Amino acid sequence: MLTKTPEQTFFVIDFDSTFTKVEALDVLGEISLVGRPDRDDALNQIKTITDRGMAGELSFTESLELRLKLLRAHRDQLPALIEALMGKISDSFQRNREFLVENAEHIYIVSNGFREFIVPVVASLGIKADHVLANTFVYDEAGNIVDFDRSNPLSANGGKPQVIRGLALDGDVYVIGDGYTDYEIRESGAAARFYAFTENVLRPRVVEKADFTAPSLDEFLYHNNLSRSQSYPKSRIKVLLLENVHPVAVQLFEQEGFNVEIRKGALDEDELIEAIRDVSILGIRSKTNVTARVLEHANKLMTIGAFCIGTNQIDLTACTERGVAVFNAPYSNTRSVVELAIGEIIMLIRGIVPKSNSMHKGEWDKSAKNSYEVRGKKLGLVGYGNIGTQLSVVAEALGMEVYFYDIVDKLALGNTRKCKTLDELLAVSDIISLHTDGRKENKNLIGEREFGLMKQGVIFLNLSRGHIVDIPALVNAIKQGKVIGTGVDVFPEEPKTNNEEFISALRDLPNVILTPHIGGSTEEAQANIGNFVPAKLLEYINNGSTYGSVNFPELQLPLLKNSHRLLHIHANVPGILAKMNNIFAKYHINIHGQYLKTNEQIGYVITDVAKEYADEVVQELKGIDNTIKFRLLY
Ligand SMILES: NC(=O)c1ccc[n+]([C@@H]2O[C@H](COP(=O)([O-])OP(=O)(O)OC[C@H]3O[C@@H](n4cnc5c(N)ncnc54)[C@H](O)[C@@H]3O)[C@@H](O)[C@H]2O)c1
Repeated sequence: MLTKTPEQTFFVIDFDSTFTKVEALDVLGEISLVGRPDRDDALNQIKTITDRGMAGELSFTESLELRLKLLRAHRDQLPALIEALMGKISDSFQRNREFLVENAEHIYIVSNGFREFIVPVVASLGIKADHVLANTFVYDEAGNIVDFDRSNPLSANGGKPQVIRGLALDGDVYVIGDGYTDYEIRESGAAARFYAFTENVLRPRVVEKADFTAPSLDEFLYHNNLSRSQSYPKSRIKVLLLENVHPVAVQLFEQEGFNVEIRKGALDEDELIEAIRDVSILGIRSKTNVTARVLEHANKLMTIGAFCIGTNQIDLTACTERGVAVFNAPYSNTRSVVELAIGEIIMLIRGIVPKSNSMHKGEWDKSAKNSYEVRGKKLGLVGYGNIGTQLSVVAEALGMEVYFYDIVDKLALGNTRKCKTLDELLAVSDIISLHTDGRKENKNLIGEREFGLMKQGVIFLNLSRGHIVDIPALVNAIKQGKVIGTGVDVFPEEPKTNNEEFISALRDLPNVILTPHIGGSTEEAQANIGNFVPAKLLEYINNGSTYGSVNFPELQLPLLKNSHRLLHIHANVPGILAKMNNIFAKYHINIHGQYLKTNEQIGYVITDVAKEYADEVVQELKGIDNTIKFRLLY
């Protein structure tokens, strides 16, 4: 892409909002105005003036004069400014330190800012002090910053083109910057190209004028085929997040430099087919169905994050066949469900709901009858997975005796006792709480026969899945006094929206707490999910790890160091690994590590190799029969 060789090309980089994420004088204001009563007002004014200047609406000298006056800064505040700016170096610059160091002879920083703080900050990434073209402050005797060097061309409009021309660089000059003054270098003919840098701020007027837009330094390097930290710039990887996923997830993907699109609602099949074409990472919740038909149109899709527990809405088999790894948040809301269960158990065993209802009708019924402590009571858990185990720990802390039954042999935590059969558990428990998964064999797991086996006056909770309980049998058991307290959060038929009526035979029965499937719905759980799922997706994208995937063979991979990582996903047929290794042998590839895992459908082979190898290796690996997807990381 470079019109000249790298040796003949010079890179001119802006400082404020390009090399760093921030405008340095804004940061200086935050330091110098500490404790001043007009601080917020002055900071706002500084920001407005900066933006107007950057957008070309204000003469530069004028804007600088106004800002310095408002700043009232001192020489002694510069070390704090430098330290703050060090922590604000743009992510993609930090990632590409190697490029900056290796090409230091060809890199210039040009800024209308000040050498006093720019030099130490850019030097930390290898930029040479004499390649920093910037202004200098003027101080009074007491060290106050009172003016700037007015003889420096960078103190006035048109300064940047002038100083670049003054360098008389023997080669093409490419400018990278976010502001109008950076574009002016190109406009004046002093540069061959201008890249509008939008990682930190996007100024439409500047982007409009640019030859190219660079959402990150990686993108610039990729565009020019220069060595970079990312094999493929993340700004080219599109993330589509549907159904209002938590803002923390959006932030995590944006921080990584991905191109993120968010939509509030779910999409139907046709809408999703339209939206998914360029998407590499899809984030959904429970209302978007990812069908085989959708996947046929998702040629770039690498991974799906279900920002919820269930993955029934996703055709997992079709995902696996297409090499799309799916992740969910299996225990982000576990604690929320447990806390609700504990709360309900206590409310029910004390008969609080009818008492509260009577009070609202003006009735005062002070009595201890049929009101018990939970301490010493036998809690029976059907299903001892994430929620069951966590609930057992909290219930034991309250002094309950916990029993559980699970179809899988599970380790009993604490003093919990394992029951050999469901019947045994039902017979022994004072309180029964269901926490099995929703597999179809569990339909009506608890019906008339099971209620028959329970103790008279049992407390019964279902916060798992609606179809697990036969509702008419439960209603019967309540009416007959077998069950004296009931908590139900999930129902065989649930309203699709908040506007639909909730219809159920469980309405208007005594000592029954009904909740609208909110067992896991807390702010904390949403934030947990918002953090957990992106972390899994990013591990997969950045490192290849599939630990926690619901459809891929699970591999936890070491961090990639001094190698290139070749990720090969293929149909699980015999002989693929041998074919891959034959290719490595043929090209004398030095293998640093190799990892393989298969499931019924696919095999996943990761090979870390020395950085130098022929391009044909990749082509041949991609060409192996039954290859589904191939990816290269470095
Ligand atoms: N109410 C809510 O808002 C809410 C929130 C989160 C989870 N849930 C539901 O809670 C349930 C439990 O969630 P989890 O994260 O603990 O799931 P999990 O998969 O970790 O645990 C389920 C356990 O049930 C066991 N099991 C399955 N069928 C069984 C049977 N017939 N008898 C005995 N044990 C059986 C499994 O072996 C497993 O150990 C799920 O159904 C989930 O959908 C509800």
